[in-house]
Amino acid sequence: MSNIVIIGTQWGDEGKGKIVDHLAEFADIVVRFQGGNNAGHTMVISGRKFISHLVPSGILQGKQCYLGNGMVIDPAVLIEETEKLDKNGIDVSPEKLKISEKAHIIMPYHKMIDKAREEINGDKKIGTTGRGIGPCYEDKATRRGIRFIDLIDPDVFKEKVNAIIDEKNFYLKSFLKSETTDLRQMMDEYTGYAKRLAPHAVNLSVAMRQAIDAGKKILFEGAQGTHLDIDHGTYPYVTSSNTVAGNACNGAGVGPRDIHGVVGIVKAYTTRVGAGPFPTELFDEIGNRIQEKGAEFGATTGRRRRCGWLDTVLLRNAGRLNSPTGHVITKLDVLGGLEFLKICTHYEFQGKNIDEVPASLTALAQCKPVYETFPGWPEEISHIRKYKDLPKNTKNYLKRIEELTNVPIQMISVGSGREETIVIKNPFK
Ligand code: GDP
Ligand code: IMO
Ligand code: MG
Repeated sequence: MSNIVIIGTQWGDEGKGKIVDHLAEFADIVVRFQGGNNAGHTMVISGRKFISHLVPSGILQGKQCYLGNGMVIDPAVLIEETEKLDKNGIDVSPEKLKISEKAHIIMPYHKMIDKAREEINGDKKIGTTGRGIGPCYEDKATRRGIRFIDLIDPDVFKEKVNAIIDEKNFYLKSFLKSETTDLRQMMDEYTGYAKRLAPHAVNLSVAMRQAIDAGKKILFEGAQGTHLDIDHGTYPYVTSSNTVAGNACNGAGVGPRDIHGVVGIVKAYTTRVGAGPFPTELFDEIGNRIQEKGAEFGATTGRRRRCGWLDTVLLRNAGRLNSPTGHVITKLDVLGGLEFLKICTHYEFQGKNIDEVPASLTALAQCKPVYETFPGWPEEISHIRKYKDLPKNTKNYLKRIEELTNVPIQMISVGSGREETIVIKNPFK
C-alpha cells in the first residue's frame, strides 16, 4: 500500500505520534491534515522524548513533511517547535518542512476568545485546550479567516486584519469582558512570523499530485480522535475539525482514490481529556492505577486524563466512520498486573442492548456499559517483540478485540519507545 491515513479511534492521545514515527521509516512523506496545536504527539527515541504539536511526527525520521490546508496554525508555536528541533539537529529547513498556502492562521484574538468563552461558560465549558482552535475554524467557515498566503502578503494581511479587528475587540470587551487585542503589537509580531515562515509556503495539492505521480509513499497523520470529530463525535464536547480518515482528502488536497489504507490507533483502554460523556470511565482504584501506570497526563495542557475500560462500541463506530484496514493496539503494557480486565461490548439503553453511540447526549447519559470480564496477566511485556511470545491471557484480550471490531490487529505497542513495538503486518507492505 502506498498512501495510508493514521487516525485515532477514541478521544485522542491513542499514541498516534509514536506509531506515525515508527511507520514513517517506510514512507517518503508525512502530512498533517487537520487540527492545530491542540494536538500533542509524543515520540520517544533512544530514551529522549519529543512532543510535536504542529510539525508532523515524521520529521524525526528525516522525512519530507507538510502542514496541510486543513490545519489551523499558530505561527509562534510553529517557530518555537522548529527552533527546538533545529537545536536537536533535526532538519526543519523550508525544503524539508512545507506549509500549505491555504492553512488558516491562529490570531491572538482567537486564543483570547477561546479562553474567555470557557471562563464565562463555567461548569458548562468544553474543556478546550485554549489554543484558539474553535474560533479560528469559525472564521474559516464564515470566510473571514486569514490563510497562510494572506499572512505572507503584507498588503492583504493588513487589509484582512483591519476588516475584522474592531468586531473582534468589541466582542472581547463588551460581551466576553476580556482584554482586547493590541493591534500594533499584533501587526509587528505577525509581520515577523510572516518573514520567517514565507519560504515554507507550498501549493499542497500540487505537491501531493507530483509526489503521487512519482510513486512516493505518503502517510497522512491525523490528530485528535474519531469521537472528537465535529460531525461524528460527542458534540458539543468535540474539537472543531473533522478528525475522521475521509478528511485526509480535504485537508491535504487529494482524492479518495489516492488513499490505499487506513490505520486506526486503539489505546488498549480508554482515556479522555476535557469534559464530555465517557460511558466506561472508572472512578475507582483501577482507574487511578491505569492513570498512573500509563502516565496519563495531556501532552499539550498537562491535564490529568480521565481513564476507563476499553469501549468497543466506540471502536465499531470508528470502524464505520473510517473504514480501517487495520488496527494498532497501543499501551498494552499499561494493563499488565491487573487481576482482571473488562471490555465494553454494548450499551444498555432503556432495557435493550444497543450497538451505537446515540447522538443525543441525554440518551448517551442513560447508556450503561455491558462488560465482558477477562483474566489479567502479571507479566511485564515491554521487552516482547513477537506476538507469539505474549502471555496467553494477553493474546485472549487481543483476540476478543479483533472479534468485536472485525478489524485485524497489525501492530501492538508495548512501550513508549520507537522499538517497543510488535509488528504483525506492516501496513505499508
Ligand atoms: P497522541 O496524541 O495520539 O500522539 O498520543 P500522546 O502522545 O498524546 O499520548 C500517548 C502517550 O503514551 C505518550 O506519552 C506516549 O509516549 C505514550 N505511549 C505511546 N505508546 C505507548 C505504549 O505502548 N506504552 C506506554 N507505556 N506508553 C506509550
Ligand atoms: P491529540 O492529537 C486529546 C480535546 C480537548 C477538548 C476538546 C476541544 O494529541 O490526540 P479544542 O482545543 O480542540 O477546541 O478542544 O478536544 N482535544 C484533545 N484531546 N487529544 C488531542 O489531540 C486533543 N485535541 C483536542 O481536551 O476536550
Ligand atoms: Mg496527544
